[in-house]
Amino acid sequence: MSQNLQKPARYTITAALPYTNGPIHIGHLAGVYVPADIYARYLRLNGNDVAFVCGSDEHGVAISMKAKKEGVTPQNIIDKYHGIIKQSFEDFGITFNNYSRTSAEVHHKTASDFFVKLYEQGDFIEETTEQLYDQEAQQFLADRFVIGTCPKCGFEEAYGDQCENCGSTLNATDLINPKSTISGAVPSLKETKHWFLPLDRYEDFLKKWILEGHKNDWKPNVYGQCKSWIDDGLKPRAVTRDLDWGIPVPVEGGEGKVLYVWFDAPIGYISSTKEWAAREGKDWEPYWKAKDTKMVHFIGKDNIVFHCIIFPSMLKAHGDFILPENVPANEFLNLEGNKLSTSKNWAVWLHEYLEDFPNMQDVLRYTLTATAPETKDNDFTWKDFQARNNNELVAIYGNFINRVVVLTNKYYNGIVPTPGAFSEVDRETLAELKKYPEIIANSIERYRFREAGQEVMNLSRLGNKYLADEEPWKVIKQDEERVKTIMFVALQIASALAVLSEPFLPFTSAKLKTILGFETLDNTLSWETVAHKEDLIPAGHQIRAAELLFSKIEDETIQAQLDKLEATKKANETMNKEVSPQKDTITFDDFSKLDMRVGTIIEAEKMPKAKKLLVLKVNTGLDVRTIVSGIAESFSPEDIIGKKVTVLVNLAPRALRGVDSEGMILMTENADGKLVFVNPDEDGVESGETIN
Ligand code: 2FM
Ligand code: ZN
Repeated sequence: MSQNLQKPARYTITAALPYTNGPIHIGHLAGVYVPADIYARYLRLNGNDVAFVCGSDEHGVAISMKAKKEGVTPQNIIDKYHGIIKQSFEDFGITFNNYSRTSAEVHHKTASDFFVKLYEQGDFIEETTEQLYDQEAQQFLADRFVIGTCPKCGFEEAYGDQCENCGSTLNATDLINPKSTISGAVPSLKETKHWFLPLDRYEDFLKKWILEGHKNDWKPNVYGQCKSWIDDGLKPRAVTRDLDWGIPVPVEGGEGKVLYVWFDAPIGYISSTKEWAAREGKDWEPYWKAKDTKMVHFIGKDNIVFHCIIFPSMLKAHGDFILPENVPANEFLNLEGNKLSTSKNWAVWLHEYLEDFPNMQDVLRYTLTATAPETKDNDFTWKDFQARNNNELVAIYGNFINRVVVLTNKYYNGIVPTPGAFSEVDRETLAELKKYPEIIANSIERYRFREAGQEVMNLSRLGNKYLADEEPWKVIKQDEERVKTIMFVALQIASALAVLSEPFLPFTSAKLKTILGFETLDNTLSWETVAHKEDLIPAGHQIRAAELLFSKIEDETIQAQLDKLEATKKANETMNKEVSPQKDTITFDDFSKLDMRVGTIIEAEKMPKAKKLLVLKVNTGLDVRTIVSGIAESFSPEDIIGKKVTVLVNLAPRALRGVDSEGMILMTENADGKLVFVNPDEDGVESGETIN
């Protein structure tokens, strides 16, 4: 086993660097940042030395593509989203020691130096190969610049570096029927030189380190993916690209080429640690080089190969660095049964959530922890969110705290009473309470954050049940002394909850600590003290008045969120409809030949024996004329009399079923595929007005 048996001297906790091509949503929070933050907060509460680092991933094709699409520079894109993402992390209480960005100078230098060291050590293979090339865009196509059919699962929209359907990592040339995402062109092959990391050279190392060393302590999903990669046989992987956005390849022959984004991004963890250490006057090196450092990477499942195979091979090749002890990757979170998608806007965006649910960060953190996709993909539903809030946070945690604080204020003016003799139930309850730091820690140390979050709720349940069974509000009428003991015990549970819920519900915990007056306690309460100290909150201590920690979420609020998603679905369906290609260009003179006017339908009747046709009399302002229109399946004659419509009046007349039709009414289709009039329904627009 490679796991340290001794307590680590320090921790380096990394959370996947998000791409800066859009804001972040609940999937990011549930999969990576909430678990990583719970872990980091827990470690700090236990007095550990922690470097929790992250930053924006600002290179790569995703950024260039977004910039191209919006007609701006990649720099505009990264500046915009770096700010939004950083703010969301702060808003949700993600306590990075440092949040950097890969466009930072320290990162360009760290990544370049890393590349040069491997280059000088002869760790790369330099090879000229044929790569996909878009003749129209005059550009090589790699990664997300090319889509095609996945050779492993047949998914037709796999990217050049990865299939999002089956998770396979691909080379662009592996794709069947590749197509450029820039121009839509079918690419040709063109020779170009690149540097490759020969992963096959690291096969023995990876087998020993992962397959033998981490069989039992890595999550089965992570271990399984690594095993299948290694079993399939590792191949050299290109670590440079022919692109103009990224870190320039810093060696001879690298002109016009940049480092592959997956080469530079994980080095971003090192750069972020350096930036933090420089700011804090610390030495960054032990966090990456000392054997008694425990490093853990928090990521989503699509990042497993990069963090377990490629980056460790880079670290091993470099030679100076330690390896991660664990990579507790999560599966994916879905939203109301469908895959979260930035491009389809199928997401709950963090900045939008906060507009709709101000100051309710903990409710989302709690729900996402309770439904975290730890062992399989999971679904976020608004109904579940409501239930977690109303039935757990409000009814159990909030209710318990509210009763304790209200009664302490009511009976003792907010001063913790001196207890009398403890009953059997009191002793059992206090003993039970003291087990929680270890129970919760055990789950957290095994990266079972769902379980850990539920244990916090179980501690609230313990408090709720204790009060419900002991009924101080009844006992006060007969035995005031007994109530002092009951309230003392309940206040100990409330204090434990304030400490142990901090990693999960940091905003609530801070509020609760204020209500309980923690700032005037002699000792700060750590995780350990909850397990060992007799009176967490001593007799005679003054607490403050009650404040609502959580409030009920009504059905209408949830319905509004569901309606919002329904509208997104509708908009996507409309966008996905086949769009007919643009017709040949016409000149202005061609256009001005069309005589279009506003007309009013004054009569309408079905054409006998023709399912689709209506015979209309239309007032065109010039005359009243007959127009035969193929709209009978969309409109009843009586519904359209009096309607204003757009009429092409100088179309050559033609006979339809023996009736001369003298013009054409312009129509379009609505989202449901039904015909609708191109309708000049502005007030005051009269028949006969020309359209130009
Ligand atoms: O999948 C992603 O969003 C990547 N930007 C993660 C990078 S993690 C690390 F290596 F930087
Ligand atoms: Zn696939």
